[in-house]
Amino acid sequence: MKFFADTAVVAEIAELDRYGLLDGVTTNPSLIAKSGRDFKEVIAEICAMISGPVSAEVAAMQFDGMVAEGEHLARIAGNVVIKLPLTLDGLRACRHFSGKGIKTNVTLCFSANQALLAAKAGATYVSPFVGRLDDIAIDGMDLIRDIRQIYDNYGFATQILAASVRNANHVRWAALAGADVATVPASVIKGLASHVLTDKGLEQFARDWAATGQSIL
Ligand code: G3P
Repeated sequence: MKFFADTAVVAEIAELDRYGLLDGVTTNPSLIAKSGRDFKEVIAEICAMISGPVSAEVAAMQFDGMVAEGEHLARIAGNVVIKLPLTLDGLRACRHFSGKGIKTNVTLCFSANQALLAAKAGATYVSPFVGRLDDIAIDGMDLIRDIRQIYDNYGFATQILAASVRNANHVRWAALAGADVATVPASVIKGLASHVLTDKGLEQFARDWAATGQSIL
């Protein structure tokens, strides 16, 4: 499963990239607002920092505006992925861009039928929001499993990008459900490496090694 960082904070992206934990980045209007940065500037900066895909979301709600904004965003860098909402206009824009070989991420997906339409529109990625389904007592991972089965039934190439991932369990469950990608807050990605027994074992190794009085170098 690929890990995308769900953030527009450059320092977070740089740190994850240094650890080799990063396969891409996703942003959305809320994350851009949270970053306090100019949208096009921060997308250009992130695209220059990493070679993986960087999702940048249109703000327009109608097809013509989505196409105009998406074409503008695609010109920022070759690794920009145009993020479009799962609406009829968003699906039409997705088909427009996929027909031109421009990568797309269809977002705000909350049902298997929506995901089926995204695949039929040629979406590169579809973003089911698992955390927001959990928030209303619907199992978000059931949606990932349904989409996986439907995509495999018909050989759709669209990648399942689990989004609205809130914790380490979401990461594990998304991987078990067969998501191709999880887009995850930077703090959750970093936390995946941590375990109390790893820390405890390492402390014991350090004590025992010190007791040998030896040096490797
Ligand atoms: O990628 C979508 C993500 O940013 C939404 O997360 O926690 O607001 O549902 P959340």
